[in-house]
Amino acid sequence: MSTPVPTTPRPKLQWIRDLKEKEAITAPFLVKFSAVAVDKNGRSYMNLVLMDKSGELESRIWDDVPKYAGQVVRDAFVWIEGKCQAYQGRRQIVINRLTLLREDEVTVKDYVPESKVDADALYEQLLGYINSMSDPFYKALAESILRDDAEIVDRVKRAPAAKSVHHAYKTGLLEHVVSITGILDHLSTHYGKYLDRDLLFLGGFLHDIGKIWELSYDRVTDYTTEGKLIGHLVMGVELVDRKIRALEAQDGRLPGAFPEEKKLLVKHLILAHHGELEYGSPKRPKCLEALVVHYIDDLDSKVNAIRTFIEADQSPGRWTGLNRMYERFFFKPDWALEALSEKQ
Ligand SMILES: [Fe+2]
Ligand SMILES: [Fe+2]
Repeated sequence: MSTPVPTTPRPKLQWIRDLKEKEAITAPFLVKFSAVAVDKNGRSYMNLVLMDKSGELESRIWDDVPKYAGQVVRDAFVWIEGKCQAYQGRRQIVINRLTLLREDEVTVKDYVPESKVDADALYEQLLGYINSMSDPFYKALAESILRDDAEIVDRVKRAPAAKSVHHAYKTGLLEHVVSITGILDHLSTHYGKYLDRDLLFLGGFLHDIGKIWELSYDRVTDYTTEGKLIGHLVMGVELVDRKIRALEAQDGRLPGAFPEEKKLLVKHLILAHHGELEYGSPKRPKCLEALVVHYIDDLDSKVNAIRTFIEADQSPGRWTGLNRMYERFFFKPDWALEALSEKQ
Protein backbone atom coordinates (compact mmCIF):
# COMPACT_ATOMS: atom_id res chain seq x y z
CA MET A 1 0.00 0.00 0.00
CA SER A 2 1.51 3.28 -1.13
CA THR A 3 0.07 5.90 1.22
CA PRO A 4 2.89 7.87 2.97
CA VAL A 5 3.29 7.13 6.68
CA PRO A 6 2.24 10.05 8.90
CA THR A 7 3.91 10.61 12.27
CA THR A 8 0.74 11.57 14.14
CA PRO A 9 -2.52 9.59 14.36
CA ARG A 10 -4.88 9.99 11.42
CA PRO A 11 -7.66 12.46 12.22
CA LYS A 12 -10.89 10.74 13.27
CA LEU A 13 -13.49 13.22 12.08
CA GLN A 14 -16.36 10.92 11.05
CA TRP A 15 -18.13 8.64 13.54
CA ILE A 16 -20.32 5.68 12.65
CA ARG A 17 -23.26 6.81 14.75
CA ASP A 18 -23.47 10.13 12.86
CA LEU A 19 -22.98 8.94 9.26
CA LYS A 20 -25.86 10.04 7.07
CA GLU A 21 -27.22 8.45 3.92
CA LYS A 22 -25.30 9.60 0.78
CA GLU A 23 -22.48 11.02 2.93
CA ALA A 24 -18.98 10.67 1.47
CA ILE A 25 -16.62 8.93 3.87
CA THR A 26 -12.88 9.49 4.31
CA ALA A 27 -12.06 8.15 7.76
CA PRO A 28 -10.33 5.43 9.78
CA PHE A 29 -12.21 2.49 11.35
CA LEU A 30 -11.54 -0.83 13.10
CA VAL A 31 -12.53 -4.09 11.37
CA LYS A 32 -14.87 -6.09 13.61
CA PHE A 33 -15.77 -8.80 11.12
CA SER A 34 -14.55 -9.75 7.69
CA ALA A 35 -15.67 -12.42 5.21
CA VAL A 36 -15.69 -13.02 1.47
CA ALA A 37 -19.13 -13.82 0.09
CA VAL A 38 -20.60 -14.49 -3.36
CA ASP A 39 -23.66 -12.69 -4.75
CA LYS A 40 -26.39 -14.39 -6.84
CA ASN A 41 -24.50 -13.63 -10.08
CA GLY A 42 -21.44 -15.48 -8.83
CA ARG A 43 -19.46 -12.30 -8.19
CA SER A 44 -17.43 -12.26 -5.01
CA TYR A 45 -17.50 -9.33 -2.60
CA MET A 46 -16.27 -8.59 0.89
CA ASN A 47 -18.68 -8.30 3.74
CA LEU A 48 -17.16 -6.24 6.57
CA VAL A 49 -18.39 -4.83 9.82
CA LEU A 50 -16.53 -1.62 10.62
CA MET A 51 -16.60 -0.09 14.07
CA ASP A 52 -15.49 2.80 16.21
CA LYS A 53 -16.46 3.69 19.76
CA SER A 54 -19.75 5.21 18.56
CA GLY A 55 -21.09 2.07 16.89
CA GLU A 56 -20.68 -0.39 14.04
CA LEU A 57 -21.89 -0.65 10.46
CA GLU A 58 -22.00 -3.27 7.72
CA SER A 59 -19.79 -2.47 4.75
CA ARG A 60 -19.12 -3.88 1.30
CA ILE A 61 -16.14 -4.03 -1.01
CA TRP A 62 -17.12 -4.89 -4.59
CA ASP A 63 -13.81 -4.35 -6.42
CA ASP A 64 -10.33 -5.80 -6.01
CA VAL A 65 -11.65 -8.45 -3.62
CA PRO A 66 -8.64 -10.83 -3.98
CA LYS A 67 -6.28 -7.96 -3.13
CA TYR A 68 -8.09 -7.20 0.14
CA ALA A 69 -9.27 -10.65 1.18
CA GLY A 70 -6.15 -11.85 3.03
CA GLN A 71 -5.32 -8.49 4.61
CA VAL A 72 -8.53 -6.94 5.82
CA VAL A 73 -9.04 -9.12 8.85
CA ARG A 74 -10.62 -8.72 12.28
CA ASP A 75 -8.74 -6.24 14.53
CA ALA A 76 -7.16 -4.42 11.56
CA PHE A 77 -7.29 -0.62 11.48
CA VAL A 78 -8.24 0.68 8.03
CA TRP A 79 -8.55 3.98 6.22
CA ILE A 80 -11.74 4.03 4.20
CA GLU A 81 -12.80 6.08 1.23
CA GLY A 82 -16.39 5.39 0.27
CA LYS A 83 -20.00 6.34 0.75
CA CYS A 84 -22.80 5.70 3.21
CA GLN A 85 -25.80 4.22 1.40
CA ALA A 86 -29.20 2.87 2.37
CA TYR A 87 -29.70 -0.85 1.82
CA GLN A 88 -32.97 -2.53 2.82
CA GLY A 89 -33.75 0.38 5.12
CA ARG A 90 -30.42 0.26 6.92
CA ARG A 91 -27.23 2.26 6.47
CA GLN A 92 -24.27 0.54 4.87
CA ILE A 93 -20.80 1.70 3.81
CA VAL A 94 -19.79 1.00 0.22
CA ILE A 95 -16.00 1.09 0.14
CA ASN A 96 -14.17 2.42 -2.92
CA ARG A 97 -10.66 2.39 -1.50
CA LEU A 98 -9.15 0.85 1.57
CA THR A 99 -5.69 1.27 3.13
CA LEU A 100 -4.38 -0.69 6.10
CA LEU A 101 -3.16 1.42 9.03
CA ARG A 102 -0.59 0.64 11.69
CA GLU A 103 -1.55 0.89 15.35
CA ASP A 104 0.59 4.02 15.81
CA GLU A 105 -1.47 5.75 13.13
CA VAL A 106 -4.62 5.66 15.26
CA THR A 107 -5.72 6.46 18.82
CA VAL A 108 -6.94 3.01 19.87
CA LYS A 109 -9.47 4.28 22.41
CA ASP A 110 -11.41 6.02 19.61
CA TYR A 111 -12.36 2.58 18.31
CA VAL A 112 -13.28 0.55 21.40
CA PRO A 113 -16.52 1.48 23.19
CA GLU A 114 -16.14 1.89 26.94
CA SER A 115 -18.28 2.35 30.03
CA LYS A 116 -19.47 5.88 30.77
CA VAL A 117 -18.38 5.27 34.36
CA ASP A 118 -14.70 5.49 35.34
CA ALA A 119 -13.07 2.09 35.96
CA ASP A 120 -11.12 3.23 39.04
CA ALA A 121 -14.23 4.78 40.60
CA LEU A 122 -16.16 1.54 40.04
CA TYR A 123 -13.28 -0.48 41.49
CA GLU A 124 -13.26 1.71 44.63
CA GLN A 125 -16.97 0.97 45.05
CA LEU A 126 -16.25 -2.74 44.71
CA LEU A 127 -13.52 -2.56 47.39
CA GLY A 128 -16.01 -0.73 49.63
CA TYR A 129 -18.47 -3.62 49.32
CA ILE A 130 -15.71 -6.13 50.09
CA ASN A 131 -14.64 -4.13 53.17
CA SER A 132 -18.21 -4.20 54.47
CA MET A 133 -18.35 -8.03 54.52
CA SER A 134 -18.28 -9.74 57.90
CA ASP A 135 -17.81 -13.49 57.32
CA PRO A 136 -14.01 -14.01 57.55
CA PHE A 137 -13.97 -16.87 55.01
CA TYR A 138 -16.15 -15.21 52.39
CA LYS A 139 -14.33 -11.90 52.88
CA ALA A 140 -10.87 -13.50 52.54
CA LEU A 141 -11.99 -15.22 49.34
CA ALA A 142 -13.24 -11.93 47.85
CA GLU A 143 -10.01 -10.16 48.87
CA SER A 144 -7.75 -12.85 47.47
CA ILE A 145 -9.45 -12.64 44.06
CA LEU A 146 -10.47 -9.00 43.66
CA ARG A 147 -7.94 -7.13 45.81
CA ASP A 148 -4.73 -9.14 46.06
CA ASP A 149 -4.41 -10.66 42.56
CA ALA A 150 -2.96 -7.94 40.33
CA GLU A 151 -3.62 -9.78 37.06
CA ILE A 152 -7.28 -10.31 37.94
CA VAL A 153 -7.70 -6.70 39.08
CA ASP A 154 -6.23 -5.43 35.80
CA ARG A 155 -8.56 -7.65 33.78
CA VAL A 156 -11.63 -6.86 35.89
CA LYS A 157 -11.11 -3.15 35.20
CA ARG A 158 -11.00 -3.72 31.41
CA ALA A 159 -13.24 -6.67 30.55
CA PRO A 160 -16.62 -6.29 28.86
CA ALA A 161 -19.46 -8.39 30.33
CA ALA A 162 -20.31 -9.92 26.95
CA LYS A 163 -19.43 -10.04 23.26
CA SER A 164 -22.72 -8.35 22.40
CA VAL A 165 -26.15 -7.62 23.91
CA HIS A 166 -25.40 -6.29 27.42
CA HIS A 167 -22.48 -4.28 28.91
CA ALA A 168 -20.60 -5.15 25.70
CA TYR A 169 -17.97 -2.45 26.16
CA LYS A 170 -14.69 -1.90 28.00
CA THR A 171 -15.23 -2.04 31.81
CA GLY A 172 -18.77 -3.37 31.21
CA LEU A 173 -18.18 -6.36 33.48
CA LEU A 174 -17.18 -4.21 36.46
CA GLU A 175 -20.12 -1.86 35.83
CA HIS A 176 -22.44 -4.90 35.79
CA VAL A 177 -20.91 -6.39 38.97
CA VAL A 178 -21.08 -3.13 40.95
CA SER A 179 -24.65 -2.48 39.78
CA ILE A 180 -25.76 -5.99 40.81
CA THR A 181 -24.01 -5.78 44.18
CA GLY A 182 -25.79 -2.49 44.95
CA ILE A 183 -29.16 -4.16 44.29
CA LEU A 184 -28.18 -7.25 46.31
CA ASP A 185 -27.23 -4.97 49.22
CA HIS A 186 -30.77 -3.49 49.22
CA LEU A 187 -32.36 -6.93 48.95
CA SER A 188 -30.36 -8.28 51.87
CA THR A 189 -31.78 -5.47 54.03
CA HIS A 190 -35.27 -6.02 52.62
CA TYR A 191 -35.37 -9.76 53.28
CA GLY A 192 -33.34 -9.60 56.51
CA LYS A 193 -32.33 -12.93 58.02
CA TYR A 194 -33.59 -14.95 55.05
CA LEU A 195 -30.63 -13.91 52.91
CA ASP A 196 -26.91 -14.16 53.73
CA ARG A 197 -25.51 -10.77 52.61
CA ASP A 198 -21.90 -11.97 52.30
CA LEU A 199 -22.85 -14.99 50.23
CA LEU A 200 -25.05 -12.80 48.00
CA PHE A 201 -22.12 -10.42 47.51
CA LEU A 202 -19.85 -13.27 46.44
CA GLY A 203 -22.50 -14.26 43.91
CA GLY A 204 -22.55 -10.69 42.58
CA PHE A 205 -18.74 -10.42 42.48
CA LEU A 206 -17.92 -13.85 41.09
CA HIS A 207 -20.83 -15.11 38.97
CA ASP A 208 -19.22 -13.83 35.76
CA ILE A 209 -15.57 -13.67 36.91
CA GLY A 210 -14.65 -16.39 34.38
CA LYS A 211 -15.43 -13.86 31.64
CA ILE A 212 -12.10 -12.13 32.23
CA TRP A 213 -10.56 -15.18 30.51
CA GLU A 214 -13.57 -16.39 28.53
CA LEU A 215 -13.33 -13.32 26.31
CA SER A 216 -10.45 -11.52 24.61
CA TYR A 217 -10.91 -7.76 24.53
CA ASP A 218 -7.74 -5.91 23.55
CA ARG A 219 -9.56 -4.61 20.48
CA VAL A 220 -12.61 -6.45 19.10
CA THR A 221 -14.26 -8.66 21.75
CA ASP A 222 -14.32 -12.37 20.97
CA TYR A 223 -14.33 -15.72 22.74
CA THR A 224 -11.00 -17.32 23.66
CA THR A 225 -10.33 -21.00 23.11
CA GLU A 226 -10.72 -21.57 26.86
CA GLY A 227 -13.97 -19.63 26.74
CA LYS A 228 -15.30 -21.76 23.88
CA LEU A 229 -14.24 -25.08 25.39
CA ILE A 230 -14.88 -24.48 29.09
CA GLY A 231 -17.04 -21.35 29.55
CA HIS A 232 -17.24 -18.79 32.32
CA LEU A 233 -19.32 -20.78 34.81
CA VAL A 234 -16.84 -23.64 35.11
CA MET A 235 -13.89 -21.25 34.84
CA GLY A 236 -15.29 -19.28 37.80
CA VAL A 237 -15.66 -22.45 39.88
CA GLU A 238 -12.10 -23.48 39.04
CA LEU A 239 -10.83 -20.08 40.15
CA VAL A 240 -12.72 -20.29 43.46
CA ASP A 241 -11.28 -23.76 44.04
CA ARG A 242 -7.74 -22.56 43.35
CA LYS A 243 -8.06 -19.49 45.55
CA ILE A 244 -9.53 -21.40 48.51
CA ARG A 245 -6.64 -23.87 48.34
CA ALA A 246 -4.16 -21.00 48.24
CA LEU A 247 -5.83 -19.31 51.24
CA GLU A 248 -5.74 -22.56 53.20
CA ALA A 249 -2.04 -22.90 52.43
CA GLN A 250 -1.26 -19.48 53.93
CA ASP A 251 -0.49 -19.58 57.63
CA GLY A 252 -2.94 -17.53 59.69
CA ARG A 253 -4.86 -16.13 56.67
CA LEU A 254 -8.09 -17.89 57.69
CA PRO A 255 -9.46 -18.56 61.20
CA GLY A 256 -9.53 -22.29 60.31
CA ALA A 257 -10.12 -24.62 57.37
CA PHE A 258 -12.54 -23.12 54.83
CA PRO A 259 -15.90 -24.68 55.78
CA GLU A 260 -16.95 -27.27 53.19
CA GLU A 261 -20.55 -26.04 53.04
CA LYS A 262 -19.53 -22.44 52.36
CA LYS A 263 -17.22 -23.62 49.59
CA LEU A 264 -20.08 -25.54 47.96
CA LEU A 265 -22.52 -22.65 48.27
CA VAL A 266 -20.17 -20.18 46.55
CA LYS A 267 -19.58 -22.64 43.71
CA HIS A 268 -23.31 -23.30 43.47
CA LEU A 269 -24.10 -19.59 43.09
CA ILE A 270 -21.70 -19.41 40.14
CA LEU A 271 -22.97 -22.62 38.49
CA ALA A 272 -26.66 -21.77 38.96
CA HIS A 273 -26.61 -18.11 37.90
CA HIS A 274 -27.99 -18.75 34.40
CA GLY A 275 -31.06 -20.13 36.12
CA GLU A 276 -32.03 -22.98 33.80
CA LEU A 277 -30.28 -25.98 32.28
CA GLU A 278 -31.07 -24.74 28.77
CA TYR A 279 -29.30 -21.43 29.49
CA GLY A 280 -26.06 -23.22 30.36
CA SER A 281 -26.39 -23.74 34.11
CA PRO A 282 -25.65 -27.36 35.09
CA LYS A 283 -27.71 -26.80 38.27
CA ARG A 284 -30.85 -24.72 38.80
CA PRO A 285 -30.77 -22.37 41.84
CA LYS A 286 -31.24 -24.46 44.99
CA CYS A 287 -30.84 -21.87 47.72
CA LEU A 288 -32.43 -18.43 48.06
CA GLU A 289 -29.17 -16.57 47.46
CA ALA A 290 -28.61 -18.43 44.17
CA LEU A 291 -32.18 -17.64 43.08
CA VAL A 292 -31.80 -13.95 43.93
CA VAL A 293 -28.41 -13.66 42.18
CA HIS A 294 -29.89 -15.30 39.08
CA TYR A 295 -32.87 -12.93 38.89
CA ILE A 296 -30.84 -9.80 39.59
CA ASP A 297 -28.19 -10.82 37.05
CA ASP A 298 -30.93 -11.31 34.47
CA LEU A 299 -32.59 -8.01 35.39
CA ASP A 300 -29.37 -6.00 35.26
CA SER A 301 -28.35 -7.44 31.89
CA LYS A 302 -31.77 -6.74 30.38
CA VAL A 303 -31.99 -3.18 31.70
CA ASN A 304 -28.56 -2.46 30.23
CA ALA A 305 -29.29 -4.20 26.91
CA ILE A 306 -32.59 -2.35 26.38
CA ARG A 307 -31.19 1.00 27.56
CA THR A 308 -28.25 0.65 25.16
CA PHE A 309 -30.61 -0.32 22.32
CA ILE A 310 -32.88 2.69 22.95
CA GLU A 311 -29.87 5.02 23.15
CA ALA A 312 -28.46 3.79 19.84
CA ASP A 313 -31.80 3.90 18.00
CA GLN A 314 -32.08 6.66 15.43
CA SER A 315 -35.73 6.35 14.42
CA PRO A 316 -37.62 9.62 14.66
CA GLY A 317 -40.53 9.85 17.13
CA ARG A 318 -41.52 7.91 20.20
CA TRP A 319 -40.80 4.34 19.03
CA THR A 320 -37.58 2.48 18.30
CA GLY A 321 -37.08 0.20 15.32
CA LEU A 322 -37.68 -3.52 15.85
CA ASN A 323 -35.50 -5.13 18.50
CA ARG A 324 -34.89 -8.60 17.07
CA MET A 325 -33.71 -10.12 20.33
CA TYR A 326 -36.76 -9.09 22.34
CA GLU A 327 -39.08 -9.15 19.29
CA ARG A 328 -40.72 -5.83 20.05
CA PHE A 329 -40.51 -2.07 19.54
CA PHE A 330 -39.63 0.02 22.57
CA PHE A 331 -41.19 3.31 23.66
CA LYS A 332 -38.64 6.12 23.77
CA PRO A 333 -38.92 8.26 26.91
CA ASP A 334 -37.81 11.90 27.13
CA TRP A 335 -34.18 11.06 28.01
CA ALA A 336 -33.84 9.14 24.75
CA LEU A 337 -35.36 11.94 22.65
CA GLU A 338 -33.10 14.52 24.33
CA ALA A 339 -30.01 12.37 23.70
CA LEU A 340 -31.01 11.99 20.04
CA SER A 341 -31.57 15.74 19.50
CA GLU A 342 -28.18 16.49 21.13
CA LYS A 343 -26.52 14.20 18.60
CA GLN A 344 -28.13 15.95 15.61
FE1 LIG B 1 -23.03 -15.45 33.13
FE1 LIG C 1 -23.85 -11.47 34.76
